[in-house]
Amino acid sequence: MNEDKLHATARALVAEGKGILAADESTPTIKKRFDSIHAESTEDNRRDYREMLFTTPKAPQYISGVILFDETIRQNAAGGTPLVKVLESAGIIPGIKVDKGAKDLAGHPDEKVTEGLDGLRDRFAEYAKLGARFAKWRAVYTITDFLPGAACIAVNAHALARYAALAQEAGIVPIVEPEVLMDGDHTIDQCDEVTEVVLQSLYSELSLQGVNLEGSLLKPNMVLSGKDCAEQASVEEVARRTVRCLKRTVPAAVPGIVFLSGGQSDELATRHLNAMNKLDEGRPWRLSFSYGRALQAAPLKAWAGKAANLKAGQKAFLERAKANGLATAGAYA
Ligand code: 13P
Repeated sequence: MNEDKLHATARALVAEGKGILAADESTPTIKKRFDSIHAESTEDNRRDYREMLFTTPKAPQYISGVILFDETIRQNAAGGTPLVKVLESAGIIPGIKVDKGAKDLAGHPDEKVTEGLDGLRDRFAEYAKLGARFAKWRAVYTITDFLPGAACIAVNAHALARYAALAQEAGIVPIVEPEVLMDGDHTIDQCDEVTEVVLQSLYSELSLQGVNLEGSLLKPNMVLSGKDCAEQASVEEVARRTVRCLKRTVPAAVPGIVFLSGGQSDELATRHLNAMNKLDEGRPWRLSFSYGRALQAAPLKAWAGKAANLKAGQKAFLERAKANGLATAGAYA
């Protein structure tokens, strides 16, 4: 393992004013996104849409890396250049989603375990050759009065750590993503409690399995009220509770925390990140973004599946990228 290279990549992904674009929607998920704009999800359309985002002028000022799906890392731009090369020449680091999705956890109704460890060493070797320098694995946890259970928390922490160790062996920076879902009517207190337990369990497993924390990043949910909770916490409370929860659980050796947006509106996701970075207290890690929907909702709508709207799509993407870039410094107004 070349630790220096891992550390440098991890730090570059959370460089000042920059964050990550998650563009790693699986084929069924991108189809859902395209359905919402009445565009057909063909291989060419998916390529055109993602190429539009990746070639947005000035976006590399705010975007350090892009998480790709397996199809995209093998795809060429319309002009014939591999999309990975397109990103590299813009100074953007290519990454890859390697998990195979959250599947039903046997014996535990309504709970999921993320699969994809079998053959992962060989897949990492191939992805490294294709140009991936970082990776993502997402686990999900549902909140109810009884969930998540201890088994769900344990098996997902174990899998996240196995994945992270394999990534580092291949010279790839692992982003570990334990997502406590915002679906449901739970309170912010419940989200806070569950997030704390999930992160404690994750970092104890990463330590047990010898994952090099300086060469990794965390992609967590924010501490939020459930989507259907009658009482919605203010932006300031979300910021304060999220940072407190992270300080209790995430070692200072981790260089950066890049949030997922998880179904928040794009504006709220930006305001929450901004408020955290405005808090008047020290923090050992950088706080940035790795948004999917919160970066893509606006450009997807503006593009609407039509080549004629390419400039409008890029304008909308640049606006969101810039807003979030500013939010990493608490400078978004
Ligand atoms: P959202 O920001 O849309 O939650 O997507 C981030 C992501 O990569 C989820 O795995």
